[in-house]
Amino acid sequence: MPTDPPRLLVLAGTAEGRETLEALAPLVAAGRLQAIASLAGATRSPRTLPVETRVGGFGGAEGLARFLQAERIDALLDATHPFAARISANAAAASAAARVPRAQLRRPGWTGPARRFPDLAAALAAAPAGAVMLAATGRGSAPLLAVRPDLTILLRVAEPGPEIPGVETLVARPPHRAEADRALMLDRRITHLLARDSGGAEVVKLEVARALGIEILLAEQPPAQPGPVLADALEALAWAHATLGLPRQPSPRSRPGPP
Ligand SMILES: NC(=O)c1ccc[n+]([C@@H]2O[C@H](COP(=O)([O-])OP(=O)(O)OC[C@H]3O[C@@H](n4cnc5c(N)ncnc54)[C@H](OP(=O)(O)O)[C@@H]3O)[C@@H](O)[C@H]2O)c1
Repeated sequence: MPTDPPRLLVLAGTAEGRETLEALAPLVAAGRLQAIASLAGATRSPRTLPVETRVGGFGGAEGLARFLQAERIDALLDATHPFAARISANAAAASAAARVPRAQLRRPGWTGPARRFPDLAAALAAAPAGAVMLAATGRGSAPLLAVRPDLTILLRVAEPGPEIPGVETLVARPPHRAEADRALMLDRRITHLLARDSGGAEVVKLEVARALGIEILLAEQPPAQPGPVLADALEALAWAHATLGLPRQPSPRSRPGPP
């Protein structure tokens, strides 16, 4: 009697999560794997993922544990953003409660020179009065920025939204290109870059600022959850294959070349 394919839940919302799902999609299409992607619903028009996708919170760790059981999930890949700490803590608690293997896909941070701080508030506090700051910290950081009226702040946000009193916003959806970041920092005479150490493609602005001699005030990533930590989509794929006993699939690199 044929057995049901294993079931994987991927908490998504990052480029690495999407890459992992794209690489697994052929196994899903072949009926060897069932994969569900989950998005928080924070982005108004997220890019489509190549597998069944649900949107919205689960209702805390308990809600996620109930989902894992009700959906008979065999493995949980937490591929959320390094600074999405609440969902990662929920994933750890829920997988322990439901006894479902879990791993966290957590891209490494930037290794370049910067002044590093435990959080954004501490990084912001270190800016000297009169600094002209590019805050690449998203709309959620607006209340924090309001405590520094002595700075000129340009806040970059991914989506349009209500005006933020006292803070100029620039709407630009990632990924951000180096040439555009360079032009922006030069045109606006930026002296300080406030950012979180999100890793991945988000290091572009840090490289640009370093090249221009702009001081970088960087909030460190929150600690990862205990358990396996995977640095990229390749490691995530290897983990999914090993954990779920998936059949090997030829990768572009291992395919034989033309005779
Ligand atoms: N933080 C960032 O800078 C950032 C940047 C890029 C992308 N993202 C993505 O945007 C999402 C929200 O980020 P956040 O910082 O608001 O997260 P968060 O503070 O860790 O999570 C807040 C709540 O949103 C829900 N949630 C988060 N991710 C979810 C997912 N993938 N599927 C279903 N529910 C999810 C959970 O609600 P319940 O408790 O009700 O389950 C969670 O408790 C994350 O998935 C993250 O990957 C975040």
